[in-house]
Amino acid sequence: MKHPSEPNYVPALGYHWLTPYYDAVIGATTRERSFKLALIKQARFAPGHKVLDLASGTGTLAIWIKQHEPQAHVIGVDGDPSILSLATNKAQEARVSVQFDQAMSYSLPYLDKQFDRAVSSLFFHHLSWADKERTARELFRVLKPGAELHVADWGSADNPLMRSMFLLVQVLDGFKNTQDNVSGKLIPLFEDAGFIDVRQRQTFSTLVGTMALYSAAKSV
Ligand SMILES: C[S@@+](CC[C@H](N)C(=O)[O-])C[C@H]1O[C@@H](n2cnc3c(N)ncnc32)[C@H](O)[C@@H]1O
Repeated sequence: MKHPSEPNYVPALGYHWLTPYYDAVIGATTRERSFKLALIKQARFAPGHKVLDLASGTGTLAIWIKQHEPQAHVIGVDGDPSILSLATNKAQEARVSVQFDQAMSYSLPYLDKQFDRAVSSLFFHHLSWADKERTARELFRVLKPGAELHVADWGSADNPLMRSMFLLVQVLDGFKNTQDNVSGKLIPLFEDAGFIDVRQRQTFSTLVGTMALYSAAKSV
């Protein structure tokens, strides 16, 4: 399989050749365990839930969700086949059953109203504004009425130090796409896609910027 050919596709660490180092870099710089476990707690997964992890990368969050709620059906979707093979190997090593699919976030291969929960971490800052908009609409489409979206991504900096540290992420992942996050545009993005009760729930100061956790719901 080829790498995604879209001209503005941003791989996990900005460049495909850095992908093998992704877990080590994220583990060392983002307080990954703290914010992903907080996202899992926030999402309140239940037995029987069908869960979509959008842009699942190396599969860490999807695997942890399955370990937290073994009776959930967890699907990770990502556009990059090479990172999906890393995720598949990790899930096998962890002996958990997670389905990994290749697709672009704005063209998901799922029927309407399929999922009880959608989660996404460290992803929306990879997208142009137009792709953020069509991805948010696509998430809304695949969620059931009454279902919830839980997102962790770079947010407005909590202080000047966090803002300056975030420059490193901006150099790797691009200034334009990441600026939407820093400017606090994820909340109106989800509201405009149709979600209700869109809120920032908590933030984490990390070595490379402020990580924000959001929640949103699809009305019944
Ligand atoms: C920074 S990584 C985040 C991975 C994982 N969610 C995590 O928290 O570690 C961003 C991921 O988004 C994927 N990606 C980028 N643009 C995409 C798109 N338009 N559709 C699907 N996946 C995309 C990349 O392949 C990469 O795996």
